[in-house]
This record gives sequence, C-alpha cells and structure tokens, in this order.
Amino acid sequence: MGTRAIKLTSIVFICSVGLGYLLFTSPIAGSAAKVEQGRRNRTTPAPQSKNVKPPAVNYSKFSHNTAQHKLACGSCHKFPTANWDKVRTGEAAFPDVTDYPQHPSCIACHRQQFFTGAQPVICTVCHTNPSPRDSSRHPFPNPIEIFNASKDGQNAVSEFGISFPHDKHVDLVGEYKTNVNPDRRFISVSFGQDKPAKPEPPQPRAEESDPKSCVVCHKTYQPQGDADEEYVTKPPKNLAEDAFWLKKGTFKTNPTHATCFTCHGQDGVPPAATDCATCHKLLPSAQQAQLAGAHDDFDPKLAAAMGIKDKLTLEKWSLRDTAKFRHEWTPHSALSCTSCHNLATLDTLDKKTRAQVKSCGGEGTGCHIEATTDGILNLEVDKKRTAPAFECTKCHVRNGKSPAPEDHIEAMQPAKAK
Ligand code: HEC
Ligand code: HEC
Ligand code: HEC
Ligand code: HEC
Ligand code: HEC
Ligand code: HEC
Ligand code: HEC
Ligand code: HEC
Repeated sequence: MGTRAIKLTSIVFICSVGLGYLLFTSPIAGSAAKVEQGRRNRTTPAPQSKNVKPPAVNYSKFSHNTAQHKLACGSCHKFPTANWDKVRTGEAAFPDVTDYPQHPSCIACHRQQFFTGAQPVICTVCHTNPSPRDSSRHPFPNPIEIFNASKDGQNAVSEFGISFPHDKHVDLVGEYKTNVNPDRRFISVSFGQDKPAKPEPPQPRAEESDPKSCVVCHKTYQPQGDADEEYVTKPPKNLAEDAFWLKKGTFKTNPTHATCFTCHGQDGVPPAATDCATCHKLLPSAQQAQLAGAHDDFDPKLAAAMGIKDKLTLEKWSLRDTAKFRHEWTPHSALSCTSCHNLATLDTLDKKTRAQVKSCGGEGTGCHIEATTDGILNLEVDKKRTAPAFECTKCHVRNGKSPAPEDHIEAMQPAKAK
C-alpha cells in the first residue's frame, strides 16, 4: 500500500469525524450544497449551530491580509512544489511554486473548519470538488498564463504588488552568468547591452526596444503588427471617427518567474526564489478594493460592451490613468522607452511614478504640448478652464471628467517659457 492510499484513509477519517461533529452539534445540514455555489463568489457563511451566532467568516476565500495569515511565506508555500516539472515541461521547466500549500499549513489553526461537515467549505479554497476521494484542485495562480486562461483566473485580483528596482538592474552584465544553472537559458538584462548570451526563444514577431533590454521583460501585448484589424475586438460598423474602441498593441506585458528565476533561482543571486516577500509586497485590502468597478481610466461596463474577456487586457486597462495611450502607434514605438519612463524615479509599487504627463511633449518636444492651443493638452486645459463640465477625451476615457490635475498645468510651462 502506497503513501497515497494511507493519506486517503486519513482524509476519510477526517471527513467522517467531521460529519459526526456536524451531526452532534448542528441539526442544520447543508454545507455541501453551499460548496456547490463555488468558492470565489460565495459571501454567506455556512450555518454552524442554532444557538451560536455564526461568525461572518467566508471560509471559501483565503486572504493574506488576515492578521494570522501574515506568517513567513514558506510556512505555507513549499518550494519547489511536487508538480513543478509537470506544469512546465522540458526546457521550459524550472523549480517553482506551482501548486497550493498542503494540509499541514492550515490544520493547526483550522482544525474546526477542516473537520466540519461532509464537504467543509474551507476545502474549496484549493479543491474543485472536495471529497475523501477527489483531490482535484483549482489551477494555482502560478504559472499565471495558465491561471489567466482559466475560469478562476477571470475575476481573480492578486493581493500583491511587485517590487522591482529597475535602477539596480540597469548596470547588470553577463558576469552573473556563473551563478546561473548552465542548463538553463540565461537572460541578459543589462540596459543597453549588446546581445544575450544565448539566443531568445523564437518570438511571435521580432520586437525591438530602446533600451534593448526592456523587451526582455516587457513585450507589446497583442500587437497589430502587419495585420489589417487594429482593434482588439470588432467595433460596430457605425463607430464614430473620434469614438474610443480599444486598439491592439496598447499594453506592455510583465515578466514572470521564468525571467526572474534565471538569476534569482534557488541558489542564485539574492533574493533567492524562496525569499518571496522581497519581490511580492502585500497590498492593503483598501487599495485592492479600489480596483473593483469603474476607477481611474477604466470602465468595466465599457470593456464589457467591447466584448473584452481577455484577463490580461482587463487587468492592464484597469491599472491605466490614460487608457487611450497606445505603445504600438508608430511615433510612440519609435521613441526610446526612457523618454517617457524615468528609471531613476520608477517605483513599481507606486503607479504615479509610471509615466509623467510632461512626457507627452512638455519638455519642448511638441507633439501634444505646445506654447499655444495647437497642443491638444493646451486646448483641453483651456476648454476645461472656460467650461468645467468639458470632458478631456483625447487621452482619457474617464479621467477627463475630473478637474485638470496640477501636473497637467505644470507640463505646459516649459513650452510656454520658450
Ligand atoms: C497561511 C498560509 C499562507 C501564507 C503564510 C502565505 N500564503 Fe500565499 N497563498 C496561500 C494560499 C492558500 C493561496 C491560494 C489562495 C487562492 O487561490 O485563493 C496563496 C496564494 C498566493 C499567491 C497567488 C494569489 C495572489 O494573491 O497573487 C501569491 C502571489 C502568494 N500566495 C504569495 C505569498 C507571499 C509572497 C507570502 C509571504 C509574504 C505568502 N504568500 C504567504 C497561503 C499562504
Ligand atoms: C496561525 C493560524 C492560521 C493558519 C496557519 C491559517 N489560518 Fe486561516 N485563519 C486564521 C484566523 C484566526 C482566521 C480568522 C477567522 C477565524 O477566526 O477563523 C482565518 C481565516 C481564514 C479564512 C477566512 C478568510 C480570511 O482569510 O480571513 C480562510 C478561507 C482561511 N483562513 C484559510 C486558511 C488556509 C487554507 C490555510 C492554510 C493554507 C490557513 N487558513 C492557515 C488562522 C490561521
Ligand atoms: C490550502 C489548500 C488545501 C486545502 C484548504 C485542502 N487541501 Fe486537500 N490537498 C491540497 C494539496 C496541495 C494536496 C496534494 C498534497 C500532496 O501532493 O501531497 C491535497 C490533497 C488532497 C487529497 C488527496 C490525498 C492526500 O492527502 O494527498 C484529498 C482527498 C484532499 N486533499 C481532500 C481535502 C479535503 C476534504 C479538504 C477539506 C477538509 C482539503 N483537502 C483541504 C491542498 C488543500
Ligand atoms: C528583468 C526584468 C525587467 C526589465 C529588464 C525591465 N523591467 Fe520594467 N518592470 C519589471 C517588473 C517586474 C515590473 C513590475 C510588474 C508588476 O507590477 O507586476 C516592471 C514594471 C514596469 C513599469 C510599470 C510600472 C508600474 O507602476 O506599473 C514600467 C513603465 C516599466 N517597467 C518600464 C521599463 C523600461 C522602460 C525598461 C527598460 C529600460 C524596463 N522596464 C525593463 C521588470 C523589468
Ligand atoms: C510616448 C511615451 C511612451 C513611450 C515611448 C513608452 N511608454 Fe510605456 N507607457 C507610457 C504611458 C503613458 C503608459 C500608461 C501610464 C498610465 O496610464 O498610467 C505606459 C505604460 C507602460 C507600462 C505599464 C503597462 C501598460 O502598458 O500599461 C509598461 C510596462 C511600459 N509602459 C513599458 C514601456 C516600454 C518597455 C517601452 C519601450 C519599448 C515604453 N513603455 C515606451 C508611455 C510611454
Ligand atoms: C540577469 C540577472 C537578473 C535577472 C534576470 C533579474 N535580476 Fe533581480 N537582481 C540581480 C542582481 C545581480 C541583483 C543585485 C543587485 C544589487 O544589489 O545591486 C538583483 C537584485 C534584485 C532585488 C533586490 C534589490 C535590493 O534592494 O536588494 C530584487 C527585489 C530583484 N532583483 C527582483 C527581480 C525580479 C522581480 C526579477 C524578474 C522580473 C529580477 N530581479 C530579474 C539580477 C537579476
Ligand atoms: C525575484 C523576485 C520573485 C521572487 C523571489 C518570487 N516571486 Fe513570485 N512573482 C514574481 C513576479 C515578477 C511575478 C509576476 C507578477 C505579475 O504577473 O504581475 C510573480 C508571480 C507570482 C505568482 C503568480 C500570481 C501573481 O501574483 O502574479 C505567484 C503565485 C507567485 N509569484 C508566488 C511566489 C511565491 C510563493 C514565492 C516564494 C516561494 C515567489 N513568488 C517568489 C517575482 C518573484
Ligand atoms: C496628451 C495626453 C493627455 C491629455 C490631453 C490629458 N491628459 Fe490627463 N493624463 C495623461 C497622462 C499621461 C496621465 C498619467 C500621468 C500623470 O498623472 O501625469 C494623466 C493623468 C490624469 C489624471 C489622473 C492622475 C491624477 O493626478 O489624478 C486625471 C484626473 C487627468 N489626467 C485628467 C485630465 C484632464 C481633466 C484633462 C483635460 C484638461 C487631461 N487629463 C488631458 C495624459 C493626458
């Protein structure tokens, strides 16, 4: 008899004890039916006892923000998980966290939740159809490509932001090659360096960036390339000339563990792969709540009207202050990334440092900012001044309804001083 069978037996035991517990303490059965409703959108807690007021705790949705969950990451996340070489295979495989934490990381505190009812609600944090015989699990959020394509991934919002010091990676050169497993592809991220030590895997479309290294981590997402169709979804036939419909090549992608762990692997450059918290920073729940519904330049109703279902597109749009800015548009793509993004001040946890409105032309380059109302920013600010109800629509979907921010006014000063 293998260990698996032994484990199964213990789960059967756990569950029958759980059922006994339920029968003795609560005449209300029904948590099994509750489980059926699915874990991520369930809001009402399972009934526990007639006399004891049920705690308003949703055991189907795990949060890292719960005080008692703020433990060392490794107390729950084992590195690597057993399935790391099955989730990614062959050349693409590397030791990684690609599965849920195991039972022992929860049991000590959640004995009661684990032992309650035939199908305890807490099981659904990880399992699709929890039972003593069924260990099938939801896709784990890593690798993110697989997760995003799944139903669970659709509405999931990460509780973490990524802390990545661009400036510290600026001067990296090939000397770190020695720290990297020679069997694995080395990624060169020296900004403005010559060539990667080994060729990149074939890209769907050759892409350039200046500085060259940005493209290692940020690719144009769903580029239009040479295709005729410029929109991400089919627009209505009668789309007005100035009306907004999201275009391909608007967003840039982010890197994943596949890139970071070439250098920061288990025995690589610190932070090591196991130092999760150096790269992942827990966002306050309030900050997370702001990402729900219409906010900044994102309107979920408009996105739905456009028929956009792609997770990454929705996520990227939801983080935009200016949804209409398209990276792939030729004048933009011909510019150096650093003409709009200031690496010295870029803080990946503070979106206000991402791109400044003055990079739209404020430093005397013209384009959208001039000395006169020839510049679209000048024109819109002017119109807003005369009629506060005026909506700035050139660069914005929602933000243009607000008063003009201070940095928009300041951005026009250098051009005027000329
Ligand atoms: C008490 C156990 C526990 C601890 C401690 C813990 N995690 Fe998790 N983590 C989980 C569980 C359970 C999930 C799956 C949650 C889900 O799918 O809803 C998860 C999912 C995640 C995810 C994917 C979901 C998301 O919000 O992006 C990330 C990233 C993550 N953990 C990082 C960390 C980091 C970094 C730390 C340390 C700062 C940490 N975890 C500490 C239990 C834990
Ligand atoms: C150190 C103790 C501790 C550990 C370890 C722990 N929890 Fe919790 N958990 C709590 C406490 C305390 C709460 C608050 C509600 C309560 O009192 O039950 C909670 C709440 C929850 C909730 C309700 C939503 C939330 O996050 O507040 C879920 C779901 C949950 N835990 C799942 C898990 C899972 C799954 C694991 C293992 C991966 C785990 N917990 C590990 C103590 C712990
Ligand atoms: C924090 C995520 C998590 C929660 C909560 C959880 N499981 Fe699991 N479960 C796992 C993982 C991961 C495995 C695979 C363990 C392994 O490979 O050793 C597993 C394995 C299993 C298995 C296969 C047998 C075994 O033990 O390996 C069964 C059956 C099972 N779980 C049932 C349950 C039931 C029933 C509950 C609720 C009482 C539950 N699990 C709660 C993550 C979880
Ligand atoms: C080694 C990988 C790597 C390289 C190379 C890299 N970046 Fe990044 N960049 C990141 C990561 C990681 C993030 C944070 C992503 C996230 O939040 O998930 C990021 C975020 C950003 C953001 C968004 C910041 C925000 O607040 O949302 C901008 C803009 C950016 N990078 C520009 C650049 C430019 C320009 C270059 C080239 C000079 C560059 N990056 C090179 C890894 C990289
Ligand atoms: C003409 C100015 C400009 C240039 C050139 C430019 N960007 Fe951006 N970038 C922006 C603006 C504006 C945003 C969105 C800011 C917002 O809405 O908050 C942005 C956003 C981003 C983001 C966040 C994800 C997204 O798409 O919203 C990344 C990453 C990024 N740029 C990387 C790059 C890289 C890499 C290059 C060079 C290949 C580059 N950018 C060139 C202006 C520019
Ligand atoms: C080419 C190798 C290489 C790659 C790829 C790489 N890094 Fe680094 N990283 C380094 C080196 C070297 C340092 C140490 C730099 C220093 O301390 O000046 C470092 C430092 C860091 C630090 C710690 C900075 C500090 O304040 O101590 C973080 C966080 C980090 N990297 C995150 C990332 C993330 C996230 C990725 C993937 C998006 C990544 N790195 C990809 C080589 C790399
Ligand atoms: C060297 C930096 C670094 C370390 C160390 C690291 N991660 Fe990540 N992780 C990243 C980056 C970058 C992403 C991609 C984020 C994105 O897509 O915006 C990521 C993505 C993830 C995801 C996919 C879901 C998400 O939030 O995007 C999970 C889950 C995850 N990491 C868990 C962990 C755990 C658990 C550890 C520790 C065992 C860990 N990571 C260590 C940089 C790191
Ligand atoms: C040429 C493009 C462009 C035009 C025209 C423009 N904006 Fe912006 N706007 C941006 C960019 C880029 C950002 C993000 C960077 C920043 O905040 O400086 C932004 C950010 C914003 C924000 C969110 C940031 C904050 O500080 O709250 C608001 C609100 C906003 N703009 C309102 C307006 C209004 C009102 C007008 C018309 C008077 C206008 N914008 C015209 C490009 C533009």
